[in-house]
Amino acid sequence: MDIDTEALRQLATAHRAQPGGLLPALHAIQDRWGHVPPQGVPVIAEVFNLSRAEVHGVVTYYHHFRSAPPGRHVVQLCRAEACQAMGAEDLVAHAERQAGCALHATSADGRLTLEPVYCLGLCASSPAIAIDGEPHARITPQRYDALIGALVDAAVPAPALAEAP
Ligand code: FES
Repeated sequence: MDIDTEALRQLATAHRAQPGGLLPALHAIQDRWGHVPPQGVPVIAEVFNLSRAEVHGVVTYYHHFRSAPPGRHVVQLCRAEACQAMGAEDLVAHAERQAGCALHATSADGRLTLEPVYCLGLCASSPAIAIDGEPHARITPQRYDALIGALVDAAVPAPALAEAP
C-alpha cells in the first residue's frame, strides 16, 4: 500500500505539541490508513524527536495498533476475565478455526482479521466480540457463525472493458 508520507507527517505534527501526543498521533494514523505503516515510523520518530526503535516499541506494545493493513472485516474477541469465565477461549479457538488464521492475523482470502481485545464493556453479557467496531454480546459459536456469515463484503469493482480498436 502506498502511503502519502507528507500527509502522515502532517497528521503526526498536529499532535506534536500535545502532552503524550504520540499515542493520539498513532490513533489518527491508524484511523486514516487502517494501520501504522512501517514506512511511516521514521517520519513519526522525526516529528516526535524519538528513535525509530522507540516508536516501533510503542506500536508493538499496544494490541490496538497494526503494522499491516487489516482484512475487509476486523473481528475483536474479548479475552478479559469476565469473558474468559464464560468461554472466551473456546470462542477464540472457534474463530481461529473458522477463519483459518490465528489472532493478530488475516484470513488467506483477506476477509477477516482476528484481534484480541481486553474488555468491551459488556462483561455482564459475556462472552463479547466486536465486528468492525460494533459490539455483540452473549456470543456462542452458532451466533458467531451467523454474524460472520451475514457480513456484507464491499463489491469488487468490475474490470474496465477494453475499448474497441
Ligand atoms: S471482560 Fe469481556 S467485555 Fe468485559
